[in-house]
Amino acid sequence: MLDWYEYWHTTLDTSNAPFWKWFVGGKINASYNCVDRHLKKNKNKTAIHFVPEPENEAIQHVTYQELFVRVNEFAALLKDFVGVKKGDVVTFHLPMVAELPISMLACARLGVIHSEVFGGFTGGACATRMEDSNSRVLVTIDGYYRNGRFIDHKKNADEAVKAAEEMGLKVEKVLIWERYPGKYSSESPLVEGRDYIINDLLKDYRGKRVDPVPVAAEDPLFLMYTSGTTGKPKGVQHSTGGYLAYVTGTSKYIQDIHPEDVYWCMADIGWITGHSYIVYGPLALCASSVIYEGVPTYPDAGRPWRIAEELDVNIFHTAPTTIRGLRKVGPDEPQKYNYHFKHMTTVGEPIEPEVWKWYYEVVGKKEAIICDTWWQTETGGFLCSTVPAITPMRPGSAGPGVPGIHPVVYDDDGNEIPPGSGRAGNVCIRNPWPGLMQTIWGNPDRYVNDYFARYCKDKNSKDWRDWPYFSNDGGVQSADGYIRILGRVDDVINVSGHRLGTKEIESAALTVEEVAESAVVPVADDLKGRVPDLYVSLKPGYEPSEEIAKRVSDAVSEIIGKIAKPRKVWIVPDMPKTRSGKIMRRVLGAISNGKDVGDVTTLANGEVIPEIQKIVQGK
Ligand code: WT7
Repeated sequence: MLDWYEYWHTTLDTSNAPFWKWFVGGKINASYNCVDRHLKKNKNKTAIHFVPEPENEAIQHVTYQELFVRVNEFAALLKDFVGVKKGDVVTFHLPMVAELPISMLACARLGVIHSEVFGGFTGGACATRMEDSNSRVLVTIDGYYRNGRFIDHKKNADEAVKAAEEMGLKVEKVLIWERYPGKYSSESPLVEGRDYIINDLLKDYRGKRVDPVPVAAEDPLFLMYTSGTTGKPKGVQHSTGGYLAYVTGTSKYIQDIHPEDVYWCMADIGWITGHSYIVYGPLALCASSVIYEGVPTYPDAGRPWRIAEELDVNIFHTAPTTIRGLRKVGPDEPQKYNYHFKHMTTVGEPIEPEVWKWYYEVVGKKEAIICDTWWQTETGGFLCSTVPAITPMRPGSAGPGVPGIHPVVYDDDGNEIPPGSGRAGNVCIRNPWPGLMQTIWGNPDRYVNDYFARYCKDKNSKDWRDWPYFSNDGGVQSADGYIRILGRVDDVINVSGHRLGTKEIESAALTVEEVAESAVVPVADDLKGRVPDLYVSLKPGYEPSEEIAKRVSDAVSEIIGKIAKPRKVWIVPDMPKTRSGKIMRRVLGAISNGKDVGDVTTLANGEVIPEIQKIVQGK
């Protein structure tokens, strides 16, 4: 499905297990595969439909030819003005605009590694990621629309540069796209010698073409930071050849994408779903991919279905949290619009059978099949899903491994839990596959420890059979191989499909002067799936107050981003602890969810439990 400059000599090299190498000897370019090669037959076809949030603003239809021109001109600018070259890391802090895939494909053209930070994150979060990847160039935008408001985004870049400097990293250049080309729309002034308006610079690159740089299949294409057990997000590194092959193949065989399709994935390109299934997979297949700037319910719950009708979208992709939200505020909206989907994907969280039913009957009008796709930032593309027209759908279950993926569920002792036994365990994948990350940027030990050490039978083995991939998800496998995901078994909370590390939130809380200890637990939520509850205890001499609670909550939003904002900040007299001093998050979780706290005899300070229950449950 891809065009190679040079074909590989070795499909899979396992000699440095578990650092698998795919398509060794192959030379390829992702930008060429997503753009250039489509021109001959399809240059006039729309590559990207950009749908601005304000409904009175015209939709932009970027053809493959126009994409080619824009990617080339920006690549020329990056090469000649910025001076980046193969192997450098460029960070983007961009929202949902066409300039994001254009920037990605321009980097890919040069063999430059891109690292996109979700647009809703703060400047500080962006800086942490720049520092980790030693990235000295930031690509951003002046502003964008979200929920009816124009957000000034450039000011985040100023914060990011400042925060990076405090961490010892000097950001050399900030390149700024304009939401309205030619009209700078941010209040934040440009810093001389550092900030550049891309549209001004582009005047010198009009008509410039840059030959795609053939890179080794194993050269990295991008980094995507994600949360794990420690406070520091990890830079998941994806390859060019293996990754592109995997997302292209799964886009075709699982999502049934063909060049004549109009495909809309409502995820954000700031997450892996958008990289794999808005940009690289669909564009490699020469589809038309929709990018919607704003929130699904703006200005009302009919918006997604109007967009689907207008663009004649026939493949749709979103997350359960969005489906729940749309079902709540506009349960009857889809039937008012004349669109027809053949295929719908869901991703990111388990989907409840009632929500699945609404998705199938009302959104899909009983005409579309649903693929519930389970996977992760680290896995590059889908791991479990049914295959359209081949394996039957089952509400609430992701499905068997997709072709080439062999899941297995292990118990804590490493024994296989037989399918159909009804027992839950840790979901693993037996075999390597081309979409799997290559490593954690700058931290290969973490790659081995977090994903392979748990179930590796022999650390010296070069046989991939000894190195199952541990997903950190719990799940159950049915007799016929369908996997039902129960959720994370590590310190990650999935809020509306966004991965948040409990440690990151706890560290943010500790930046508030009065706070002595903090603990985060997930609470079930009808719309978001899970939301974080944050418990804090104060240093001696401080009295609990609403004001402190608010400052703690604000600190989390400011340091990480609004998506991490706790549902509640509970100030408690003390944390429930084991005799060895470990905070018992399980007990706090039970209290937040109104459940029985279970066996607490091992607690060192059991007397705090009724006090905490009184604070949280008011009884
Ligand atoms: C975590 C990965 C998958 C790309 C977007 C999120 C949960 C993901 C499903 C699903 C149940 C799911 C898992 C996983 N998850 N898809 N279909 N059913 N749970 O990527 O941010 O890396 O999050 O999302 O817990 O580990 P991510």
